[in-house]
Formats: sequence, C-alpha cells, structure tokens
Amino acid sequence: MSLRLWHYPFWIAHRGAGTLAPENTLAAFRLGAAHRYRMFECDARLSADDTVFLLHDNTLERTTDGQGIAGQRPWAELAALDAGAWHSAAYQGEGLPLLSTLASWCLTHGGMLNIEIKPTPGTEQRTGQRVAQEAARLWAHAAVPPLLSSFSHAALQAARAAAPQLPRGLLLERFSDEGLDMARSLGCVALIGHHPLWQAERVGRVHAAGLHCLAYTVNDPAEAQRLQALAIDGLITDRVDLFPPD
Ligand code: G3P
Ligand code: MG
Repeated sequence: MSLRLWHYPFWIAHRGAGTLAPENTLAAFRLGAAHRYRMFECDARLSADDTVFLLHDNTLERTTDGQGIAGQRPWAELAALDAGAWHSAAYQGEGLPLLSTLASWCLTHGGMLNIEIKPTPGTEQRTGQRVAQEAARLWAHAAVPPLLSSFSHAALQAARAAAPQLPRGLLLERFSDEGLDMARSLGCVALIGHHPLWQAERVGRVHAAGLHCLAYTVNDPAEAQRLQALAIDGLITDRVDLFPPD
C-alpha cells in the first residue's frame, strides 16, 4: 500500500517550544518559530462552556495560577488566568490561548499544527467532536490542514465523524498489533509513538500498512539519529534550540 498524502515537515516543536517558554502559550509558538520551526504540536481541550483552548494538564495548578479541573471552568474564568508566571518572570501575563487565536497566528505566519486532543476524563467524544469541528472551520481555506491526534480512540472516532477530511494520528505509548489495527480502523494517516517503541521491523510494518511513523518526545541527539536511520517520518521535540529544523 502506498503512503497517504503527507504535508508536514520532519521536525515538530512540542507544545510550541518545549520547555524554553511556557508550554502551549502564544509566546512558546513565537519562540519555536524564531528557531525556524514550521510545525508545532499543541494540546487542546474544552472549557465547561465548550470553548476549545490550549492546556496540557486536566488541572490548572502546574501551569497557571488557577486551581482545580480546567474543564469545569467557563472560558471567561480561564481567560483571566496567568499561564506564564509559573515558567519565569519574563512570561508573566501570558494567557491560555484559544485554538482560534493560535490558528490565526499559524495562518498568518505559515505555521503548521499538530493538535493533540486532550479530553478531560468523561468528555472524550465531545472533545473530539468539538476540536475537529473548530479545526475544520478555522482551517477551511488553508493549504495544509492540521494533523489531529489523540491517545483516546473515542476522541479520534468522534473527530472522524465530525470532520472526516482532517488527517488523524493515533498516539501510542507502547506498540501492539491492536494499536496498529486501531489506527487503521480509525482511518489514521499516522501512528505517533513514544520514541523507544520504534524499531526497524515496526516502522516497516506501519509503512506497509500505509501509515506514517512519528515519534514523541525526542530530545537526545543519539536517539534522533537512531530514529532517522529507521526512516521515521517525523520527530516531535522539546529541543528547538538543539535540532535545526528542515
Ligand atoms: O503529541 C505528542 C505528545 O505531546 C504526547 O504526550 O503528554 O506531551 O501531550 P504529552
Ligand atoms: Mg501533547
């Protein structure tokens, strides 16, 4: 089987610029772009009133000055939080971005996006549906669509139903035949694996199934070299300062 259409560069900046700026903030994507990255991974979830915004954790404590489960707060409350001061004083005042704000920035600056769907537990279907609907609307006239990804099968299934035209990738922490079968049955164009799981035989099998192979989160030059020798199709990295992108 031949590989499906692929629009994306090899190097993808994790959460904007890894740990160099507060993750998933606009400042992080700007810093990733300043290191000449053209594609970015972000984490998208739903507020209590169904707004799609960027945040990795289910809870607010680690990366904002808020508390509790983010998905239980309306967007008006989330929008008032500081999502930069936890990282360093230079980023005090950075807010949690809407997906729509990042989309505008990407479309203006030629950035490509991998949107990881991060459902608050219990909201898998709704989050997959809403993120896909929003992505389809925001990128309706874009040359390159965003790549939707998730560890959640239910979220990817709902994303497929809502916007079948958007490419999807299944995230896997461990390789299994069931994982590859699931990716195929979800109509995915990529398997995005935790980097140690990739071996030559697995890359060959995934390619033979017509899917691309990506690895997260690769920060070590020797590991990046090992993966490149396997003919992997893309690496997600925190180290935008270490790896010059293509
Ligand atoms: O999308 C790749 C990677 O971001 C998955 O793990 O926890 O960093 O979102 P995490
Ligand atoms: Mg992620």
